[in-house]
Amino acid sequence: MSKQAGAILLAWGLLALWGCGPKAAAPTPTVNESMTQVMAPNAQTIWDITSGAFNDKGDGLAASKISAKDWADLEVAGRQLRDRAQLLAEAHRVTVVGPGEVIMGEHAAGAPSPIGHEWDAASAKQVQAMIDAKPALFAQRAKVLADAGATTIKAAQAKDAAMLYGVSSNLDEVCDGCHQKFWGTDEPPPFPH
Ligand code: HEC
Repeated sequence: MSKQAGAILLAWGLLALWGCGPKAAAPTPTVNESMTQVMAPNAQTIWDITSGAFNDKGDGLAASKISAKDWADLEVAGRQLRDRAQLLAEAHRVTVVGPGEVIMGEHAAGAPSPIGHEWDAASAKQVQAMIDAKPALFAQRAKVLADAGATTIKAAQAKDAAMLYGVSSNLDEVCDGCHQKFWGTDEPPPFPH
């Protein structure tokens, strides 16, 4: 390779790097926005459809109770969960809240509660510290949710009620698997259901 070609390649490489810079720095949505705007509503879609589609024995889902629109909605919900969880899993650094965002229960920390002791809800600052201390574990828990979203898409495309049941009946554990570690309250204040 001539010196000149080498220099051009080098310049290209630098340009490419420089080009990546602003992209890599584009802010990932906050955890709070992800939870309230994406995870909660889409998980709700999955729970609503599946809870209305139990078979007579109650040990699985009946495909006959899932309409074409349901399957389409499930696919959309699965895709939203997968894509946002993937984004969180791959984020350079995850931010819990942005300006003006308040996490659920934070206002209740230390207040009297019906659970026998005071709410031990974590503040956004505490949650941020927990995530910053174990970013790889957070990414791993997000990846588990991304996988659940991907399986939901697969089940919806194949209209496979058994596969859908497998993922929907386990979904709250996928959510809790991260909440227990990073939200950190054994008994979080009222959870939307
Ligand atoms: C990779 C980690 C992770 C996964 C997976 C996860 N969450 Fe969360 N979630 C958090 C963290 C951290 C908080 C606490 C910060 C907050 O409240 O915004 C939270 C809080 C929440 C909140 C309270 C939001 C608020 O108003 O403060 C809701 C609702 C929620 N999650 C729903 C879900 C649902 C539903 C799922 C599963 C489909 C899920 N989350 C999966 C990390 C996760």
